Amino acid sequence: MDIAVPPLPNSSKINQAGNLEVAGCDVTELTAEFGTPLYIYDRRQIVDNCRAYRQAFAAHTGDYEIIYASKAFTCLAMTQLVAAEGLSLDVASGGELHVALRSWFPPQRIYAHGNANTHDELGRYVRNEVGHVVIDSLDELAALDSIAGEHGRKQPVLLRITPGIEAHTHDYIQTGKLDSKFGLCLAEGVALDVAARILAAENLELEGFHMHIGSQIFSLEPYVRAIALLADFAAECRDRFGFVCNIVDVGGGLGASYTTADEPVGIDEFARLITGTVRDEMDRVGMEMPRIAVEPGRSIVANAGLTAYTVQAVKDIPGIRTYIAVDGGMSDNLRPMLYGARYEAVLANRPGAAPTRTVTVAGKHCESGDILVKDAELPDPRPGDILVTPATGAYGYSMSNNYNGQPRAAVVFVQEGDARVVIRREEYEDLVRLHERLE
Ligand code: LLP
Repeated sequence: MDIAVPPLPNSSKINQAGNLEVAGCDVTELTAEFGTPLYIYDRRQIVDNCRAYRQAFAAHTGDYEIIYASKAFTCLAMTQLVAAEGLSLDVASGGELHVALRSWFPPQRIYAHGNANTHDELGRYVRNEVGHVVIDSLDELAALDSIAGEHGRKQPVLLRITPGIEAHTHDYIQTGKLDSKFGLCLAEGVALDVAARILAAENLELEGFHMHIGSQIFSLEPYVRAIALLADFAAECRDRFGFVCNIVDVGGGLGASYTTADEPVGIDEFARLITGTVRDEMDRVGMEMPRIAVEPGRSIVANAGLTAYTVQAVKDIPGIRTYIAVDGGMSDNLRPMLYGARYEAVLANRPGAAPTRTVTVAGKHCESGDILVKDAELPDPRPGDILVTPATGAYGYSMSNNYNGQPRAAVVFVQEGDARVVIRREEYEDLVRLHERLE
């Protein structure tokens, strides 16, 4: 039987007991066993998404690299899956690197990013022989060159350029426009100067260029314009410095479906457009086809994950609205509050029941803005119901926090009727683990 909330994993269905089932696991049984809030990931869906990226790019080019952006969701199990699927990994900090290395992720397949990497972080990238560091500033260039020199390593790098393109997405997650804290702008020869300095640096090896124009992007047209600018820039570097560009990394950003109304571009279409545009643009400027790299985060994990909560209270404000209060909120999903992101809800213990009312799903935090779903259509929700918000797999756990002393929720991977805890639930004692008493 179909469920009228599409962004659930493909394996989702209503089982014989009338409950929501994901990858052969009854969600109400999962919550009974592991508690709520609970992040549930369909492991097969993650794997399928990784494979969809590889197949889509392989259909258009022999030289491609799919770099999973671990900021979207990372843990040992996740980086293990990514490694097994042959993807590379984007880490944005020493912490994300640590998780990757602890799962034995091959360092040569890691791209290290960041606009404020510390001396310590750069040292870790060099010492662990990370495949590429993506240079984001002149200061970073100088620091990395000297650290690489100290370790006797010639560190391969990409240069992050800011193409000055506005992607049509939330302002906070646009990253490629001119006024951005990320990358080096093409204007006034800023990026060109940094390219020259990298080429002159003794301990750095420039292999290509990187850009990332934004996230949750639904129209691919900004990529086309940005790639054209990148190609012009690469040609200028060739003309001036004789530089050969081996890698063009166009970043991540492909949108995911959060609600019934969202219609993101598919992975196949994305791959076709990116490879076609890079090929056309390289032809135009008379350059060899480079390796094409992409850095998807959201589109690998968003629709593989969902969050299950227990309804705690139902409160009617006559003539105004009904609040359904659940046992999580902005601590496990900051996105509605931060970006006004929209989600939908379904009751795992009667997903097939016809909705009877429009309600507001509120979190448990001491903030009026802690609203998870604004207008949820639900079948008469009651305390004890298991409420699920689909598509929380990206930037959910990774932006989770302990506000109001809320321990971080557990994460389970489900597959063929089996559930495995991949991140344990925090306990109250974890909240004081780092605290020191006075005297
Ligand atoms: N590469 C770079 C350099 C990035 O900065 C990002 C995301 C990605 C790749 C992956 O982008 P994706 O494919 O996931 O769109 N917290 C926000 C999203 C911030 C994205 C930051 N950078 C949210 O919850 O919407």
